[in-house]
Amino acid sequence: MGFEIATFTAGYRLIAPFLRWLPPEAAHDLILAALGLGLAPRRRAVDEPSLATRAFGLSFPNAIGLAAGFDKNAEAVDAMFRFGFGFVEVGTVTPKPQAGNPKPRLFRLTKDEAVINRLGFNSDGMAKVVERLRRRGDAAGHAPGVVGVNVGKNRESENASTDYAAAAAAFAGLADYLVLNVSSPNTPGLRDLQTKARVREVLEKTRAAITGKGLGQPTPLLLKVAPDLEEAEREGIAEVALEGLADGLVIGNTTLTRPSYLQSPLRHEAGGLSGKPLFALSTEVLADFYRRTEGRVPLIGTGGIASGEEAYAKVRAGASLVQLYTALVFEGPALVTRIRRELDRLLRRDGFTHVEQAIGADHRQLR
Ligand code: FNR
Repeated sequence: MGFEIATFTAGYRLIAPFLRWLPPEAAHDLILAALGLGLAPRRRAVDEPSLATRAFGLSFPNAIGLAAGFDKNAEAVDAMFRFGFGFVEVGTVTPKPQAGNPKPRLFRLTKDEAVINRLGFNSDGMAKVVERLRRRGDAAGHAPGVVGVNVGKNRESENASTDYAAAAAAFAGLADYLVLNVSSPNTPGLRDLQTKARVREVLEKTRAAITGKGLGQPTPLLLKVAPDLEEAEREGIAEVALEGLADGLVIGNTTLTRPSYLQSPLRHEAGGLSGKPLFALSTEVLADFYRRTEGRVPLIGTGGIASGEEAYAKVRAGASLVQLYTALVFEGPALVTRIRRELDRLLRRDGFTHVEQAIGADHRQLR
């Protein structure tokens, strides 16, 4: 199956009201099943040359990525590339399969253009996801783009760093890059791993496991952090990253905070908040990490991006790459090519020929 992108957009507009009428997780499962069956555009829009970029040794066809959590089990990677993403982050994948928290656990805050989730790492487990990615790798003609795999720990596991090391090693060489997710709010104790000592321990153990696989070139290893970090945690993580233990940081995950202006009746549901109300907070934390790491550690800016304007703000604040998820729930998949077009225009408006030139531009102006 395959459509021209315009046909797909028109079709999506027709079914969107029905999807919104379904409970959010049912809508998500339905979309994934359709994508898995190949319901996606035939071809991706040609990448804007200004958006092609390099980070942690990899070449990205464009700097706009799909954030973790949409395709947790690598069921729709190529479909998402055909919608125009330059990279797709699969996961979070846990070592053993697990069901996650009881339903309902996903809530649409429509008035706020936000989502709250407390999925709790529902995962097919690493063996199945490894197998799916292997099969994809063996198949001919898959779409170009960078595939990251984001890994986590099982809820019942007593030893977090052993879980991260095992999952990362399983995907090393198969994924283009790896992300250790130490920042989901929905696994008890996970965020306690964000102190300097624990981050160092988890990264060192994971690096050793990857090196132990004896690959020619070790797979780049990133850390995904929360936007709710304390000052001391930010400082510790920046130091560990500057030592070279992390090849990059993803900033960041969902927030436990609830801005006072939220309107939706579901705003008090437990879990992590994403989407529009996360934009300001996550961009502030991103800018802070850029300053602390003096622009020497590649940062992926994630949180509340719904337009080219917001993608551009993340780049100017210090992001080498950006990712989104929640805005897709409200805008549909045509959003990806729109953001690319808008970002390309904004770069040119300000005299940049290339996205790399704009990374951290706000900090240079301040000096
Ligand atoms: C997420 N996110 C997420 N992150 C992660 O590292 N592992 C995961 O499994 C998930 N799962 C997940 C599920 C759902 C339903 C949502 C909405 C989000 C967080 C996601 O990757 C991203 O960091 C935040 O959502 C912020 O970006 P947006 O959504 O505001 O663009």
